[in-house]
Amino acid sequence: MVRSKSFHRALCLWLLFILIITGIIFQLLTIRSPGKWHPPPVSYLSSNTSRVPKTSSNLDQEEIHRLIKLIQWPEVPSGVDFMSSTSPNTTFYVLLHPQEVYHIGDRITVVIFARDHYSRPKTYGGDYFLAKLHSPKLKAGVTGSVTDHRNGSYSVMFLLLWPGDAEVHISLVHSSEAVSIISRKRDKFYLNGHFIHDGNSATVACNVQPPGPDVCTYRDIQSREEWFCNRPKGFPCSAYQEHLTGVNHPTLSASEQQFLQRAVTDQMISSTLRKIIILPQTSGTDERSVCGPGLSIPDPSGYYYQDLWQSRVCRNRRFTSPSDVTSCLKGKVVYLFGDSTLRQWWLYLEKFVPSLQKAAPNVSYALGSLLATDAEHGYLVKWRVHQKPLSMIHTSEPKLPYIVSELDNIGGADDGLVIVINSNAHFVSFPVKFYLQRIRNIRNAVVRLLKRSPQTKVIIKSGNTGFRYEIASDWLSFQLDTLMRAVFSGLPVALLDAWQMTSCHYLPKDLHPQEIIIKNMVDSMLSYICPE
Ligand SMILES: *[C@@H]1O[C@H](CO)[C@@H](O)[C@H](O)[C@H]1NC(C)=O
Ligand SMILES: *[C@@H]1O[C@H](CO)[C@@H](O)[C@H](O)[C@H]1NC(C)=O
Ligand SMILES: *[C@@H]1O[C@H](CO)[C@@H](O)[C@H](O)[C@H]1NC(C)=O
Ligand SMILES: *[C@@H]1O[C@H](CO)[C@@H](O)[C@H](O)[C@H]1NC(C)=O
Repeated sequence: MVRSKSFHRALCLWLLFILIITGIIFQLLTIRSPGKWHPPPVSYLSSNTSRVPKTSSNLDQEEIHRLIKLIQWPEVPSGVDFMSSTSPNTTFYVLLHPQEVYHIGDRITVVIFARDHYSRPKTYGGDYFLAKLHSPKLKAGVTGSVTDHRNGSYSVMFLLLWPGDAEVHISLVHSSEAVSIISRKRDKFYLNGHFIHDGNSATVACNVQPPGPDVCTYRDIQSREEWFCNRPKGFPCSAYQEHLTGVNHPTLSASEQQFLQRAVTDQMISSTLRKIIILPQTSGTDERSVCGPGLSIPDPSGYYYQDLWQSRVCRNRRFTSPSDVTSCLKGKVVYLFGDSTLRQWWLYLEKFVPSLQKAAPNVSYALGSLLATDAEHGYLVKWRVHQKPLSMIHTSEPKLPYIVSELDNIGGADDGLVIVINSNAHFVSFPVKFYLQRIRNIRNAVVRLLKRSPQTKVIIKSGNTGFRYEIASDWLSFQLDTLMRAVFSGLPVALLDAWQMTSCHYLPKDLHPQEIIIKNMVDSMLSYICPE
């Protein structure tokens, strides 16, 4: 067992070398990140959790400051008129160094030249593009990584990952001018609350900040989060019964509306670029690790081939038959806390596994808890919506528990506990600081849970692309997703990259994706629960 000193010294030097290189790579990634559109790689480099839960408010402010910096976006000159904003019709892209054939593992770069509606080159950055390389025939796709050169040109890098054909698809989600408008408007949205008392009812504005001088304050004891409603005259605060979608959208002026009209939102950039042909690689070994918590997320984090998601994070598995699922979930308690995009997972499992039966049929579909149990195999799957803000019609939701409270009330000796968390879409039109408070509270509750029950599997689902309702946008979702990834970085949790899984599929983008995408997401979740 005795090893020589020189062996130890060599080992130490080697480890030091690796640390330095990792540090340099990390620095480079950090420097590059403001100009990159896809969610930046998360630093799982340190699993030293002692630095994560910070209680002193100074450290809180420091962390918030650091996080806000991550989502800074290039400013646009003031007073740019619509015709001088970036146009999807005149913007174009070219392939750098075209070749006859390519091989798996090669990278290709495409350069986008942004132009305005008069076809004049743009001279500043900030446009938001989403790019994928795909083949509808092969049911294959991968996201491209966009870098903003801040001078009107953008590079998009694609990694070639399957044999056969592939075509580039780039869409201009928003011009930089449109981004600048929606980033200013996101704090101007509010929801409504319905008060009922003594046979009278009143509807008032509610928000994460007091919407008026005389408000009812609803403070959650466990998470210390606050919610405010204007106090209706003659009503006690306890009369707050129902929550409604805000009808008071932030009003866009006619000129602002032009920048956000359908014709210029999420429009494909046309190109003369033809399909490229990718040849197989001669050798290839699977170097991915077994799925587990805290793995680093490469970019791209995976790709579709024959409609199956091939993770580049870890060796993800297929759960093709109900018995694959039941043998994985046997003895587990699976909680899904999040929004309707996570409810889709619950609905998929309940439909796919015949022995998994819906229990308590009387609950609210919109809010949950939706509970499904499998008596034959002994496990359960439960979904519940997160707390306000919720942009949905008429829910009796004021008393809904916060995810933080849910997390603090579970765990302990439970083996087989699985927690999946997401929160993104309902927060996009509210102040970023509010979202940070929510997501950091959840993160701290996850840390407490993992302390109580270290064997708990925690999976964080990122946001989906495809959010294009009136006040929503992929750019807004992306900003929050970036924050969420940073907040959970360094923790022994698994991050499931729903962002890329929804953005590179051949089906049209949809916030609530079709079943084939859901199946791939659920299989990815199961791969973390049952890696082997
Ligand atoms: C974690 O970091 C702290 C401060 O940098 C250090 O004192 C501690 O020893 C580290 N713990 C581990 C397990 O590396
Ligand atoms: C782009 O071109 C299409 C087809 O020519 C046209 O219908 C559309 O209005 C144009 N959009 C803009 C924003 O110019
Ligand atoms: C924009 O920046 C890129 C990267 O620095 C550079 O290669 C390119 O030539 C620049 N384009 C213009 C028009 O200045
Ligand atoms: C089920 O819902 C109905 C209508 O909302 C209600 O009257 C009934 O009491 C509920 N039953 C249970 C068991 O909660």
